[in-house]
Amino acid sequence: MCGIIGIVGQTPVAPRLIESLKRLEYRGYDSAGIAAFENGRVVRRRAEGKLRNLEAVLQSEPVQATVGVGHTRWATHGRPSERNAHPHQAGRVTVVHNGIIENFAELKAELAGQGRSFESETDTEVVAHLIDSELKAGKPPVEAFKAALDRLRGAYALAVIIEGETQLVLGARHGPPLVVGWGQGEMFLGSDALAVGPFTNRVSYLHDGDYVALDAQGARVFDGTGAEVSRPPKQVSSSAAVMEKGNYRHFMEKEIHDQPEAVQHTLAAYLDPVRMRAEAPDGFDFSTIDRIQIVACGTAYYAGVIAKYLFERYAGLPTDVEVASEFRYRSPALSPRTLAIAISQSGETADTLAALRHARAEGQKIAVVVNVPTSSMAREADRLWPTHAGPEIGVASTKAFTAQVSALTALVIAAAGKRKKVDGNEQARMVRLLLEAPRLIAEASEAEDEVRAIAYDLSKARDVLYLGRGAMSALAMEGALKLKEISYIHAEGYAAGELKHGPIALIDEQTPVIALAPYDELFEKTQSNLQEVGARGGPVIAVTDRRGAPHLSSTARLIIAPEADPLIAPLVFAPAIQLLAYYTAVHKGTDVDQPRNLAKSVTVE
Ligand code: F6R
Repeated sequence: MCGIIGIVGQTPVAPRLIESLKRLEYRGYDSAGIAAFENGRVVRRRAEGKLRNLEAVLQSEPVQATVGVGHTRWATHGRPSERNAHPHQAGRVTVVHNGIIENFAELKAELAGQGRSFESETDTEVVAHLIDSELKAGKPPVEAFKAALDRLRGAYALAVIIEGETQLVLGARHGPPLVVGWGQGEMFLGSDALAVGPFTNRVSYLHDGDYVALDAQGARVFDGTGAEVSRPPKQVSSSAAVMEKGNYRHFMEKEIHDQPEAVQHTLAAYLDPVRMRAEAPDGFDFSTIDRIQIVACGTAYYAGVIAKYLFERYAGLPTDVEVASEFRYRSPALSPRTLAIAISQSGETADTLAALRHARAEGQKIAVVVNVPTSSMAREADRLWPTHAGPEIGVASTKAFTAQVSALTALVIAAAGKRKKVDGNEQARMVRLLLEAPRLIAEASEAEDEVRAIAYDLSKARDVLYLGRGAMSALAMEGALKLKEISYIHAEGYAAGELKHGPIALIDEQTPVIALAPYDELFEKTQSNLQEVGARGGPVIAVTDRRGAPHLSSTARLIIAPEADPLIAPLVFAPAIQLLAYYTAVHKGTDVDQPRNLAKSVTVE
């Protein structure tokens, strides 16, 4: 979603706002803007499109100031344009906002009735007007801010400056996260720790409902009732270094190649390579539950579907998986011996967070498999099961996905052990297999030459089908999602056996079919499905291993992945589908790291 930064500093603020926005560009990049106090007046610079456009504006119209706010936008209300770019202003008030004000239409009508006029199509502008009207009614700044907050419904993080209050930045959190950064004689407000990372690593996480007043000396934080509260700062690790692309052309390419390390770091939290045992980091006893309910969105959801196959197959543990946006709005039948697991890279996805809260309200215990240990989900769950993928910047998730699948696979082994589905020897064998995964993922990422050539042809396609069986059907869906996201080619993933029940009608010479076909117990079935495709003239690409290759070489173009036990095959086959999507997008010349219409962390419904 949108990125927010606010600075009460001592040195020129414009370059600092830009530096921070560069780190936040992964959240949204359809327009950007800043506002700051220049000689006591608020000046504003905004530009449609990427941040470099705002930088160009600032070059021709520089801003001399030390206090200000900045924003990078992912449009919700109002199309991307300079007019709709934040900051938004009304009277003395200037606002940047992440989230959605649900009752904005009602508030706008009321404010318009008072003679106020609006210059943008955004929901944010009503917030500026509300605060301004409270100021006009005579309230001091913090009270005016609180009175306006009390009128808002929806999810929001806000940063606000007020003309006449040149050393003050106000912030509020209702839903999306907001952090306060503590400097030496200067203070910062950001939509996450990355935003304030260039200036400080001492960070307080605001709680839901908090609002805050910052000046150069510190922060006064109030909870939703208006009571002053303490949110002591924590030391966070410096993330500046890991955010470089190195020699790679895109973050996504780097992150695909980071996967062996991401998986290895993650597994270190779950596997004991001396005793050859797997355990949840908090020692959770899976024999105390009868069922698992997984909730997640997008790529994290597909990691959950893979986990379902594995939990049921190896641990005999019934597992349901549901997209969070559906789960939160129905009445799932949950039993007391169910463990709810939310899976999320960011730990902030609004739908997943709401599903987690929904499950909690239904009396469930909650575990989260999450990559950001300081995120809302990590803080709200009963059990934190981390992935250690490091910051993921490319909008299309890669290393966070394999880190999730590896953590979940380790939990499957732990569950199989605790539930006595496997003996000590079998558990040791499974742990050994999983410990091999980082090496095999590295080997899988070397198939780049074949992948690049095939991707060139894929880049000409209009539609692509992905097929797989078992856990590979979930990876097929993830492959289709990756291709859609970054190359804008329409793609669907199917369980291979479903093809004949409808999708086969789509097959013609122009519709490539990508099969994920490890040489396992279902290989022959998939092979037959591919023959059905070939018979209808569809070009077939098979991702298989050395044992499967001779059986498919006459029907398909091949990408060879390392041979892998079914326990780890989804991990080992993942780089092939990620690289295929990546090189297809590169051939098409799309914006790989910041594809159109998407944002990294989706903190609205
Ligand atoms: C796809 C992608 C998204 C996310 C989804 C959930 O490449 O990145 O589908 O997986 O928005 O995000 P998190 O994992 O942060 O909850």
